[in-house]
Amino acid sequence: MRTVEKIHTQSIKLVESYEDVQNLCFLSITHSMTWPTVVITGANSGVGFGICQRLLCQLSEKTPPDTLIKPQELPGSQQKDDIEGDRFVLPCEGITLIMACRSVQRAEVARQKLLQILDKHVENLTSSPNYDGHAELFRKNVRIVIHPVDLSSLETIPKFVQELEKNYPYVSHLICNAGIAPFTAIDWPSCIHQLLTNPLAALTTPRYYRQSWGEVSQDGYGYVWQCNVFGHYTLYKGLYSLLSSSKYGHHSRVIWTSSLESKKSYDAKDWQLKETRDPYGSSKYQTELISLELDRRALHDIDASKRVRHFTAHPGVTHTNIDLNLISPLLHYLKHFVFYLARWIGSPNHPIALEKGAVSVVWLSIISLSTLTVFCASNQGFKSNSSSNGHGSVRPALKFAAQTDWRGNSCVGVTEIEGGEAHSEEAKELVDHCESLYQSIETART
Ligand SMILES: NC(=O)c1ccc[n+]([C@@H]2O[C@H](COP(=O)([O-])OP(=O)(O)OC[C@H]3O[C@@H](n4cnc5c(N)ncnc54)[C@H](OP(=O)(O)O)[C@@H]3O)[C@@H](O)[C@H]2O)c1
Repeated sequence: MRTVEKIHTQSIKLVESYEDVQNLCFLSITHSMTWPTVVITGANSGVGFGICQRLLCQLSEKTPPDTLIKPQELPGSQQKDDIEGDRFVLPCEGITLIMACRSVQRAEVARQKLLQILDKHVENLTSSPNYDGHAELFRKNVRIVIHPVDLSSLETIPKFVQELEKNYPYVSHLICNAGIAPFTAIDWPSCIHQLLTNPLAALTTPRYYRQSWGEVSQDGYGYVWQCNVFGHYTLYKGLYSLLSSSKYGHHSRVIWTSSLESKKSYDAKDWQLKETRDPYGSSKYQTELISLELDRRALHDIDASKRVRHFTAHPGVTHTNIDLNLISPLLHYLKHFVFYLARWIGSPNHPIALEKGAVSVVWLSIISLSTLTVFCASNQGFKSNSSSNGHGSVRPALKFAAQTDWRGNSCVGVTEIEGGEAHSEEAKELVDHCESLYQSIETART
């Protein structure tokens, strides 16, 4: 088990090796106040790595192709004028990408790989006939830095927050991506049954994974709940002053990662998910409600010129190591192939590749938020799960999905957050539970 001391030592070594102390201080002074500062948890592998890769490559283009994606339900003709706070400034001339990871070594390997991918992408852009010079300008102003944090150990979070407060004037985006799935085994009879009765569902929302349950973190809370839900809540609260800083002149965005497998499977009193047999699906269900409720609270103040907005996205089915415990390496390859089969027979929910699984988060990170308002207002296809604060701001009870067509062209799907408004009381209670626990931990700490 990693100790806090070890993490801190690694952090110091890391900073020395990058000669980044001076660099970071310099950065906080020269950083353009329109460039995003993006914090992403679990950035070193899987979907988190894909998000970093896609974000960097998109922003190296003057008009990132992802900003042209319109979910099918959004008629382009209804586009309204941007509101200043909703904007993401494009072309984007620089970025600070903060990899919030529990292993500095793994993050450093990923960081080097990201820079290589970006350099290759920039090289390709510069050799295209219509090259406009933007990619090289952007590349010059790209900073990718690593700050350690372990969501399963709450005492690492204040240190992480302090480091950021010392070195950056604001945070524009917090991407809550890290997550664990405590899958332990496949229940083969259920697997075969689901494969025979509904093969596509078996490959999209499997109901045959056994999970370990009852595990408690070193802080004494439900382990999965802490890693997937409360750790991110604590991070969001700690970073609130950076997220709400007026130095970044647009609304900041917190993007919560859910899953197609989100499902309520716990009693109200088990909100730390210690007793449920499905802590993973339940943690994702809570994530969606918490994101909705926090956004409702953010929109509540109608006069606020600066808001911290909250959105929910998921990567569909992406081929990562999240279920590596379950199957042998050989079956892992077979699973990869079967995912392609699912896509070829028409499933939109199998992006498979990391950077394709990243499209929903990246899209939400760089579109103008006015697009979402128009979308929700014009959305006839859903039940009335959107509510307004009475002043034109619409809170979407929606989650955004990474999808592709059968050829693998990325798009963004939209689905309702199950129970959205119907469960708004439950959402309030969940946020209240998190908030009072957070406050009691803070009081004990200070
Ligand atoms: N893959 C899918 O098809 C899929 C589908 C739906 C939703 N999701 C969601 O997407 C997110 C990313 O999953 P993934 O598939 O990319 O999984 P993954 O490949 O296992 O990556 C998970 C990432 O989270 C980090 N992490 C785990 N526990 C952490 C902790 N206590 N503190 C800090 N970081 C921690 C891991 O760091 P280490 O490298 O140090 O372990 C890793 O970087 C998760 O929230 C997952 O629920 C994935």
